[in-house]
Amino acid sequence: MSNLTKQTVLSIYHWTDTLFSFTCMRDPGFRFNSGQFTMVGLDINEKPLLRAYSLASANYETNLEFLSIKVPDGPLTSRLQNLRVGDLVYIGKKTTGTLVVDNLLPGKTLWLLSTGTGLAPFMSIIKDPDIYNRYEKIILTHTCRFADELAYQKYITVHLPNHEYIGELIRNQLIYFPTVTREPFKNRGRITDLIKTGELFERLSLPSFSVDNDRIMLCGSPRMLCDTRKLLNDIGFIEYGNSASGHYVVEKAFLG
Ligand code: A2P
Repeated sequence: MSNLTKQTVLSIYHWTDTLFSFTCMRDPGFRFNSGQFTMVGLDINEKPLLRAYSLASANYETNLEFLSIKVPDGPLTSRLQNLRVGDLVYIGKKTTGTLVVDNLLPGKTLWLLSTGTGLAPFMSIIKDPDIYNRYEKIILTHTCRFADELAYQKYITVHLPNHEYIGELIRNQLIYFPTVTREPFKNRGRITDLIKTGELFERLSLPSFSVDNDRIMLCGSPRMLCDTRKLLNDIGFIEYGNSASGHYVVEKAFLG
């Protein structure tokens, strides 16, 4: 039996020349936990070519959503970016991934630190009402080179706070902190530097990271993950591993 289903593309949105998202139908049997990823692909030379993609949609939403970069000459993304409404895409039946709350020890504040398309799994997580029962505050940071790469910015700041069901949770408990590294913007700089200098905590009027209170999820570029890991390890945070819950969990953003 195939471990894939074919789903119809419902919409495509090009954020920039290098970044796009699309939605497709959801198989009635498809289940996932917020923060997980699945395989997505197309037939290329009559064979499925698949890559891992985080689900950006909430686990209760009718359709599935994915965020992707356009890799020049990338075997899959160079074709995925040309999707049209009505096309068919492969979606894996299985989901997996480390960015799930059950991998974290209980805590007060959940930090979701992302760069680039590493935002995708956090879009699913911030729409999950269960997260707001587990944590008093959720802080989502998104760092990109340029401001137009801050995908979903308006959705997070305008649409979600007015959402019929989760709007109140979003207004009371979610803090969104976008930062840009290569052009002027209201928040400037790499997240690692903002943590090290303490500017992040000052700007948000929050205490700096403590092992007792803070839990952290990281998703983004490998270099950001490496530097942030080191920073967290140095202050005594323990990474989830070997099925033992930790103070933080890590997933790299997938390239296509
Ligand atoms: P920068 O512009 O200073 O390189 P990329 O597009 O290369 O995946 O990077 C996405 C974002 O992640 C950029 O804003 C980039 O900042 C930032 N970034 C890259 N490397 C690191 C790192 N080692 N630590 C923190 N942020 C990083």
